[in-house]
Amino acid sequence: MENNTTSASQKPTIVLAGATGDLGGRIGRSLLEKGAEVRAIVRSNSDAAKVDALRKQGATICEVDFHNASELAKSCEGATCVVSALSGLHYVMVGIQSLLLNAVVAAGVPRFIPSDFAIDFTNLPYGKNRNLDFRKEFKERLDKAPIAATSVLCGMFADLLTGQAPIVLFPIKKVMYYGNPNQLMDFTTIQNTADYTAAAALDPTAPRYLRIAGDVLDAYGLKEAASKATGEEFKLLRVGGLSLLNTIIRITKALTPASKEVFPAWQGMQYMRDMFSGLPKLEPLDNDRYPEIKWTTVAEVLERR
Ligand SMILES: NC(=O)c1ccc[n+]([C@@H]2O[C@H](COP(=O)([O-])OP(=O)(O)OC[C@H]3O[C@@H](n4cnc5c(N)ncnc54)[C@H](OP(=O)(O)O)[C@@H]3O)[C@@H](O)[C@H]2O)c1
Repeated sequence: MENNTTSASQKPTIVLAGATGDLGGRIGRSLLEKGAEVRAIVRSNSDAAKVDALRKQGATICEVDFHNASELAKSCEGATCVVSALSGLHYVMVGIQSLLLNAVVAAGVPRFIPSDFAIDFTNLPYGKNRNLDFRKEFKERLDKAPIAATSVLCGMFADLLTGQAPIVLFPIKKVMYYGNPNQLMDFTTIQNTADYTAAAALDPTAPRYLRIAGDVLDAYGLKEAASKATGEEFKLLRVGGLSLLNTIIRITKALTPASKEVFPAWQGMQYMRDMFSGLPKLEPLDNDRYPEIKWTTVAEVLERR
């Protein structure tokens, strides 16, 4: 069994779950660039091309059955930190992450980074946002476990503004919002989040929470960013107050058949409602902790679209 203390000449080993995913793949590449050994734990049915790409990039591949406790613990042995970039519903975010946490503790790994990567769910009560409730439930387990943990909270992935999140409406040159146009919100690109998480994984003194934002903008700021990025004038579109958005969420949810989708439309609206409410605003920011990171603004993301 490897030792989990790292001497100056020895490369630290970081175990990564979810390495075949978008964020996880980027965290893996960033760790390799920073000189770490990356051990990617994958499933037997993970996409073979993605696993092969990870191997070619220099990661060690460890195929595991997440339900086999001793096999999972063995895959974590010798690591200085285990990072989870898993994505899914309750089964994954609470169930599989708990199996992973048990294995990490059994293997004597000193640190764990859960797949939190969101707005500040610690400021939200249960019952507001389904996917964030999974994180709150897992946090209760994590905080009782004998291990140091660091959650990276990054606000909304800024990349979503050019696709999934219907806030910057390019065809009609409007920025849509509910409630208060002066409410500041946090946006961070997937790449910045990955680079920061890799740095945190290699930082034995990282605290329980790290809060980051590549850009902090209110609806006016989004309008300016969209105008700057496109060279065309965008205007604000206030759809209504937060109570209207709550009603739309309730109706959309009632009309949506139950499915295993991680981000159905009503889930996206719950995130939007929470951001517009200001409750999960990230304060204070820890952007300067790893000065090598160059933050990407929302205007830059919109320009690249
Ligand atoms: N803040 C934001 O705006 C925002 C937006 C999107 C995502 N996120 C968060 O970022 C994190 C990563 O998301 P992502 O978009 O990178 O996810 P993704 O691309 O969908 O990747 C999900 C990963 O989880 C693994 N996985 C799923 N089910 C599993 C299971 N039952 N057992 C083992 N592994 C399983 C997948 O492995 P296989 O290849 O084996 O399936 C894959 O590696 C999540 O916490 C997500 O909620 C945040």
